[in-house]
Amino acid sequence: MRKPYIAGNWKMNMTPSAGAAFASDLARAAKEAGCDVKMMIAPPFVTIPAVLEAVKGTGIIVAAQNMNDHKSGAYTGEVSPEMLKDLGVNTVILGHSERRSYYGESDEFINRKVLLAIEEGMDVVLCVGETLEERESGRLEAVLSSQLEGDLKDVKASDMARITIAYEPVWAIGTGKTATPEDADSAHAFIRGRIAEMYSSDIAQNLIIQYGGSVNASNVKALMAKENIDGALVGGASLSVEKFLPIITFNK
Ligand code: 13P
Repeated sequence: MRKPYIAGNWKMNMTPSAGAAFASDLARAAKEAGCDVKMMIAPPFVTIPAVLEAVKGTGIIVAAQNMNDHKSGAYTGEVSPEMLKDLGVNTVILGHSERRSYYGESDEFINRKVLLAIEEGMDVVLCVGETLEERESGRLEAVLSSQLEGDLKDVKASDMARITIAYEPVWAIGTGKTATPEDADSAHAFIRGRIAEMYSSDIAQNLIIQYGGSVNASNVKALMAKENIDGALVGGASLSVEKFLPIITFNK
């Protein structure tokens, strides 16, 4: 049984004070609603300490949206996994399409971060997904395959329990255009099949695959009803209790 895993990627939103106030409201609302999913929120780096304090003891996972591919050193403006762990952060989102496209992150670079995160004992939410042009030119499967192979290179089978995959079609992010549940499920089935080939069917069966791209209160149930969709990575709709609560309680 794969437990539903719902995550909120706050992106570059929420100051430390706003984030702490929102996180305590969210934690309270989730508890009152009897929320029964694995829940994660990923604030910006500087907002993390205040949010950690606000959700202490609630079971809500606080993750980082990125990290550097080195343990320490002369990398101005960067944050290392060791710094995150020192705060109590053990989960990191890597390979988000905004980092791939705006900051030129390659699969090779993402792979170095994935390997370092694992070495540091952290859990990873690895984002993959195609652009509209790649989908329309029939390259969906080739793109997903090369991202998975590149990003997971040298990741051992014994470490795969630390990896969650988030399928985020670039054309569905922040656009209000969601993949249909059928399209999302078929991409997820493809990803699971590739992981079975790269590792084993057991590992593939246990792999949590989140869908991301304009998830909201109206489409979450239909998406989550699909066999291969095990969770959601939510952007815009994770920024208010009113919008996020129906998503984290989709199974209530
Ligand atoms: P939206 O939910 O705003 O489309 O963002 C999805 C996303 O990129 C989550 O990482």
